[in-house]
Order: sequence, then structure tokens, then C-alpha cells
Amino acid sequence: MLINMKQSHSFLAAITILVLLHTGTGKDLRTVTEPKNPPICTTLKPTSADETKTIQKALDSCAKGKAVALSSGTFVSGPLNIPSGVSLLVEQNAVLEASTDPKAYDRGNNNCGTINDSGGGCNAFISITGATGSGIYGKGKIDGRANHIMTGSNITWWQLAYNASKIHKNQNNPKLIQIANSKDITLYQITLVNSPYFHVQSRLTYGFTVWGITINSPFDSVNSDGIDPTGSINVTIAHSNISTGDDCIAVSSLYGPSKHISIYNNYFGHGNSMGIGSGTTYGISEMTVTNLTMNNVRYGLYIKSNTKNGGLVTNITYNNVCITGEQSRWPISLDTSKPPVTGNHVPQFKNIVFNNIRILNNDATIVLHGLSQTNPVEISINNVHIKKGTKMSVVNAKVQGTWKEDASGTSC
Ligand SMILES: *[C@@H]1O[C@H](CO)[C@@H](O)[C@H](O)[C@H]1NC(C)=O
Ligand SMILES: *[C@@H]1O[C@H](CO)[C@@H](O)[C@H](O)[C@H]1NC(C)=O
Ligand SMILES: *[C@@H]1O[C@H](CO)[C@@H](O)[C@H](O)[C@H]1NC(C)=O
Ligand SMILES: *[C@@H]1O[C@H](CO)[C@@H](O)[C@H](O)[C@H]1NC(C)=O
Ligand SMILES: *[C@@H]1O[C@H](CO)[C@@H](O)[C@H](O)[C@H]1NC(C)=O
Ligand SMILES: *[C@@H]1O[C@H](CO)[C@@H](O)[C@H](O)[C@H]1NC(C)=O
Ligand SMILES: *[C@@H]1O[C@H](CO)[C@@H](O)[C@H](O)[C@H]1NC(C)=O
Repeated sequence: MLINMKQSHSFLAAITILVLLHTGTGKDLRTVTEPKNPPICTTLKPTSADETKTIQKALDSCAKGKAVALSSGTFVSGPLNIPSGVSLLVEQNAVLEASTDPKAYDRGNNNCGTINDSGGGCNAFISITGATGSGIYGKGKIDGRANHIMTGSNITWWQLAYNASKIHKNQNNPKLIQIANSKDITLYQITLVNSPYFHVQSRLTYGFTVWGITINSPFDSVNSDGIDPTGSINVTIAHSNISTGDDCIAVSSLYGPSKHISIYNNYFGHGNSMGIGSGTTYGISEMTVTNLTMNNVRYGLYIKSNTKNGGLVTNITYNNVCITGEQSRWPISLDTSKPPVTGNHVPQFKNIVFNNIRILNNDATIVLHGLSQTNPVEISINNVHIKKGTKMSVVNAKVQGTWKEDASGTSC
């Protein structure tokens, strides 16, 4: 068939668009813009007493669509539940401090604040459950105080977690914020520090916006993950600054699929990864990470799973990522055999696309470990710049494109 130049151009254009669609459209399907603080139903001033009852009562009697505001000063509280439609607004110079008493969080077996085989013995500091349109706002701070000695003990939450990890058991520590079975939840501007366990988990939540928040815990704090969406759909995490001891973000799918996820314009100061996994059972797909700078983030762009919790991870795109810092040892790391490796849930990593990546650590290793020759990890690399001499640990991988060994300098 003869075609003229004009037709041939539009034919090429059509192919290019198809390729773009195939590689670059994984995103939150909602139109997400910068959130606005909701109107205030009541403003609380701190006293020197425990404020659990006062804050909970204010939340329970706040009208839907409004927020309970905490004004400047320090509030100490035990666990709180944010009702459906209601928000908490921690104003600038206000600090909401978590009680250090394990008994306050205990779920009924007296295990909170102890080590056992499975963990899960504590309620979160702040829970949002079965809610629609709730959120946490404000330029103030929520402090989990995991660096303080627990009431009735002689060690901190973090020391407990460290001790548990040494003997391959689990700490019973509270998450800072737990969102579950909810819709249209927002975290805006808030600063979250020193969580005894994950700072934020969203479980089976559809519509989750995190915008302009700061998370800060030390590099050596155990299991202090930043934001962990699991079984969550329509998620945006943007303009945030995250430093933790574990994954800065970890998207998993242990309870349902995670998909339609946009992560953009973020900075990670230290931590383990921009992660996916390790639970990928229900699949993770249609996700794009754009404009990310990572400094001292051990596993960088990390996809981890195993045959115990494996599933399909596909249509994942990374655009414009810069990785630096001596601790960024494995800046791209795709691992299908993260222990435990016992089971028949096959992890598959397919159509993982890397566009415009710069890796500036001199002592880095790229890790691509597929499960088998018949089930390799499949990635595509475009403009991925690494330092000359970067090590490669590659088994069972299909790589489209070539690594450019021309990166220079150390600052992103
Ligand atoms: C991945 O993208 C392809 C091409 O757009 C699409 O056919 C496929 O359904 C996507 N996979 C998932 C799990 O969404
Ligand atoms: C995701 O957002 C789109 C667009 O608003 C909506 O149509 C879809 O139902 C949402 N998905 C879920 C699971 O809520
Ligand atoms: C560990 O503690 C949790 C929470 O109290 C409890 O559900 C679980 O049964 C305990 N596990 C073991 C093995 O003792
Ligand atoms: C903490 O208390 C335990 C007994 O409950 C004791 O064995 C341990 O040595 C104490 N540790 C410190 C640092 O005081
Ligand atoms: C737990 O950690 C503390 C401080 O790090 C230490 O003093 C204590 O001996 C540890 N306890 C156990 C049971 O490992
Ligand atoms: C990120 O937050 C830390 C405090 O946690 C602060 O020191 C740093 O300046 C912030 N960085 C950016 C790029 O906003
Ligand atoms: C990423 O950064 C570029 C350059 O600053 C900007 O033009 C683009 O809008 C950003 N992308 C997103 C998704 O914000």
C-alpha cells in the first residue's frame, strides 16, 4: 500500500501516542488540586491535663464538613477517632503529642508495648475508619513521641522495635495515623514526627490526597514507614518532604488492589525507599512517580515481593527522579525474592518504565532479580544516567534501552 507523507506522519503520531498511553497514563483518575482548610466548628486551647476526652468530644459533636482546631501550644492525648466528614486542624505552633502509655492504645490482650510473634496489639494514635470526607490539616505538628520512655517501662517505643527486630519477632506499637475503609480522605500541610510504627497507613481507601506534608523520623528508627497505601485506589501524594528510617512511601496490596496512583513533586531526606511491596497479592498498577529527589534512601526506586505475598505489579512509570547520597546503595532495586520465599503467589513485575533518572552515588548497585527465566522482571529505561562503574546485579531480567554511564556531580 502506498501512503503519502502526510498520512505517514499521522500514522507515526498515532503509534507514538499509543506508546505513550501504554507507558505513561497510570494516575489518580480524580482531578486533584491543592486542598483548602475546612471551616472550623470549634477551637480548643491546651490545658496541662490529658486532652483525650476533650478533643474526642469536640470531634464527635463537630458538624460534617467542619474541623476541630487545636490552637498554639501543646496538647497531650491518647488515641482519637476522627468521625466521618469531620476533620482535625492542628494550627501553626500547635503540637498534638501522643501519650506514651501503652495501656491507652491496648486492643484488649495487654500486648501493646510488648514484643510477641505477630504484633497488632495497639490501636493507632489517630484512626479514621469507615469515613467519607475526613482529614487532618494545619501547619502544626503531630508527635508520636516514640523517642520517649514508655509509661511503666524503661525503654522507648523505638528501642522496643529495635529489640524485636534483633530477635525476629514483632513489636506491638501504635501507628500514628490509620485510615481504613474510607473515601475522600485528605492530609494537608501537617507535620508528622516520631511515630512508634508507620506514620500513615491507608487501607482499602478510595480517594486519598496527601499534599504538602512533612514526615520526619531518624534514619535508624525501625519500621517508621512514611505513607503506606494498601488496597487503595485514586491516591495522590504531592509536594511532601519525607524522612524516615524505613520506606518513605510503600504501596502494597495485601487487602485489595492498589491502582490509579499519582506521586509527584516530593523530596525524601533519608529512608529506605520509594517502594512498592512487599505485599503485592492483589496487584499494583497504573502508578506514576514524577519529580522526586531522594537523598540517602537505601533502596531508591524499590519493588519488592516474594512467593508468599506475590502478585502482578505492572504499568508503573518513574519520570524525572534524581538519587544521591552515599547511603543510596541500591538506587534501583527490583527484587522478587525478598524473604520469606515460601509460597505459590508468583510475583510478576512487568512494564516498569524509567524515564529521565539520574543516579549520583559513586558506590551504587542496580538490582534486577526476576523469579525465573520464564518470569523475568521487564523494564524499559530511557535517559537513565548512572555513574561510570555502577555495579549491576541482574538475574532473570528483560531490559529495553541502555544505561548511560555519564552521570557526574553529586548534587541533584
Ligand atoms: C496495563 O496497561 C495496558 C496497556 O494500557 C492495559 O491493557 C492493561 O490492562 C494494564 N494493566 C493493568 C493491570 O491495569
Ligand atoms: C476513581 O476516580 C474516578 C474519577 O473520579 C471515579 O470514576 C472512580 O469511581 C474512582 N474509583 C474508585 C474505586 O473509587
Ligand atoms: C500477639 O499480640 C496480638 C495482639 O494482642 C495477639 O492478637 C496475638 O495473638 C499475639 N500473638 C502471639 C503469637 O502471642
Ligand atoms: C529495663 O528493665 C529490665 C527489666 O524489666 C531490665 O532487665 C533491663 O536491664 C532494664 N534496662 C535498662 C536500660 O535499664
Ligand atoms: C531492649 O533495648 C534496651 C535499650 O536499647 C536494652 O537496654 C534492653 O536490654 C533490651 N531488652 C531486650 C529484651 O533485648
Ligand atoms: C524537609 O524537612 C526537613 C525537616 O524534616 C527540613 O530540614 C528540610 O529543610 C526540608 N527540605 C525541603 C526540601 O523542604
Ligand atoms: C515536574 O517538574 C516540571 C519541572 O519543574 C514541571 O514542569 C512539571 O509540571 C512537574 N510535574 C508534575 C506532575 O507536577
